[in-house]
Amino acid sequence: MPDPQPRHGDVRIRVGSAGLNPVDCRIRDGDLRPISRLRLPIVAGCELAGTVDAVGPGPSRFAVGDRVYTRVDKRRLGAFAELACVQQELVAHMPASLDFAAAAGLPLAGLTALQALRDELAVGPGTRLFISGGAGGVGTLAVQLAKDFGAEVTTTASPRGAALVQRLGADCVIDYTQEDFSVVLRNFDAVLDLVGGAMLKDSFSILRPGGRVVSIAGVPEPRTAQEDLGAPPWITAAFGLMSFAIRRRARKAQASYRYLFMHPSGDDLRVLAALVDGGRLQPVVDSTYSFAMIAEAFAALEQGHAKGKIVVTFP
Ligand SMILES: NC(=O)c1ccc[n+]([C@@H]2O[C@H](COP(=O)([O-])OP(=O)(O)OC[C@H]3O[C@@H](n4cnc5c(N)ncnc54)[C@H](OP(=O)(O)O)[C@@H]3O)[C@@H](O)[C@H]2O)c1
Repeated sequence: MPDPQPRHGDVRIRVGSAGLNPVDCRIRDGDLRPISRLRLPIVAGCELAGTVDAVGPGPSRFAVGDRVYTRVDKRRLGAFAELACVQQELVAHMPASLDFAAAAGLPLAGLTALQALRDELAVGPGTRLFISGGAGGVGTLAVQLAKDFGAEVTTTASPRGAALVQRLGADCVIDYTQEDFSVVLRNFDAVLDLVGGAMLKDSFSILRPGGRVVSIAGVPEPRTAQEDLGAPPWITAAFGLMSFAIRRRARKAQASYRYLFMHPSGDDLRVLAALVDGGRLQPVVDSTYSFAMIAEAFAALEQGHAKGKIVVTFP
């Protein structure tokens, strides 16, 4: 491929490391075509950390040589390459205390956790919060952020992930391979669902009246289409039908249901960088592969048991 040229307002970044995410597999498989029509061929990859290599025309808050990280534009992608051009408003200086591998795994999962907990669930001191799937890429960050916000955090993990989520601050860990959380938990204020399926359905039974469920892995609903995607009315209607049963379950439990699609944001990446450099948030890297081994890295991701993030690094 020819080197990409930065447009007005872009920076071009020499990629040090790029993070892998389940959404990369869904994009590769064409699952997101109804909501996201990418113009092919395209360089894939959603998040990266690296060094600013060139600055496009227009005012800039970055200079050549700055160490930055970003969750790239959803319509542009481009993290799985030596060079990536990204709009500056989606970029931030990476945490000074991290190397590229640790920083590259932070943007997508970190923004997702932050936006779900802060903006959708309004988690604060004393919130009784249940997080399903605390040991993965999003979960390891969500547990730490929720604790930092003052919540009392219960999460699920298999024996492989229990010690990790405890170390990250979870107050109570349920081994989902042995115990049904919906039988033992009651009176929660909020649920952050990272698993979907039966775990999402069962979440409503542990809430107090007025409680909230936010999922990033379940069924999209009309607000997803309107607020997160700016999608046409037929998508809103389709999401309304798809989520009918789960919204009815929410109504019966006197709870609310929201499916969130995270949004890229340089401002929120600055918030995350400050938390990391302040010693309040620690990215967890499951494994690091060379870029030449990206197929193996994807195979590992698709096993579904990563503890933290899987990243690829460039020479
Ligand atoms: N909507 C959005 O904007 C958005 C953004 C980011 C991610 N997502 C979605 O959110 C989900 C999680 O993403 P991720 O990056 O965190 O994935 P991930 O890193 O691949 O998650 C793997 C982790 O999930 C745990 N897990 C799997 N099944 C579980 C279960 N039934 N109960 C408890 N834990 C379970 C595994 O633990 P064990 O090994 O112990 O089983 C593993 O540690 C994916 O579906 C992804 O597509 C959505």
